[in-house]
Amino acid sequence: MAEINKVAVIGAGVMGAGIAAHVANAGVPVILLDIVPKDAADRSAVAKGAIERLLKADPAPFMSKAAARLVTPGNVEDDLGLLADCDLIIEAIVERLDLKQSLYAKIDAVRKDGSIVSSNTSTIPLAALVGGLPERFAGDFLITHFFNPPRYMRLLEVVAGAATRPEAVATVSQFADHRLGKGVVRCKDRPGFIANRLGVTWLQAAVVEAFDRAIDIEDADAIIGRPMGIPKTGVFGLLDLVGLDLMPHVNASLAGSLPAGDMFHDLYRPAPLIEKMIAEGYTGRKGKGGFYRLNRAEGKAKE
Ligand code: NAI
Repeated sequence: MAEINKVAVIGAGVMGAGIAAHVANAGVPVILLDIVPKDAADRSAVAKGAIERLLKADPAPFMSKAAARLVTPGNVEDDLGLLADCDLIIEAIVERLDLKQSLYAKIDAVRKDGSIVSSNTSTIPLAALVGGLPERFAGDFLITHFFNPPRYMRLLEVVAGAATRPEAVATVSQFADHRLGKGVVRCKDRPGFIANRLGVTWLQAAVVEAFDRAIDIEDADAIIGRPMGIPKTGVFGLLDLVGLDLMPHVNASLAGSLPAGDMFHDLYRPAPLIEKMIAEGYTGRKGKGGFYRLNRAEGKAKE
């Protein structure tokens, strides 16, 4: 079976940075790429900023200083050539099919034969992700859906497509299990797979209920928190952790892929308050705060 000795993560946001840190903590070198920031002198500022934040995370850094030395930051315009010797390339960019597909074409032009490419998509079926891409690419492609935060959440959903090489699935599953300490669950290629097909339903239901019936957010979290097995955050705290800006993409993806008449179809309608919060920068812990006021660098509640 092929070995994974070097990994690339593309997208240094909430998930990509966390996945890169987790891989580096396991002693595996990682290339971490993002886009070139507008007007920034340093073209790799996004990935570098993400590494800094992971080192400062509270109450414990998400990555050790030694692990941070294994992470090479860069950007997709100048540094795609760094993917040439990577065994596994994990895409963790924004949840949009068009952007993911255009990135895959660029990755395919530089990656080595036999390297494996995976997506961290929350909801987009694999068949849609590889649609129109070369057969060779589809053979090396799968979904590795990590959960937030990648350092602490053990579950990893793995989805293989009709064309995915069984050896690629076995290699990634073994790496995830043996090196990353993940519990791999093989899922069918369905919108939202298993966890989000079920999980987003109650996240969205809580949002709709709270807004339509004016339920107090802290009361809702007190009930749909520890008593229902969601440690610490509750449902609105979880939305702050996930990032509110992800929700419209996830909802659109699920609504668009469910057949008419599906009992959850209407549930995934846009929530006006969430859209207003996103427009004003209240995207949760990664932004100005969300349902709770938060310290951006540390993800910690403030007075
Ligand atoms: P995010 O918005 O925090 O980060 C996305 C990053 O990708 C940003 O830094 C952005 O600059 C970068 N980016 C956008 N287009 C790019 C491109 N063409 N090339 C390189 N970088 C690009 O998003 P988040 O939340 O980390 O989500 C990433 C993926 O992981 C999405 O597919 C999402 O559905 C999935 N996911 C998110 C979870 C969460 O809790 N936030 C949990 C599990 C999966």
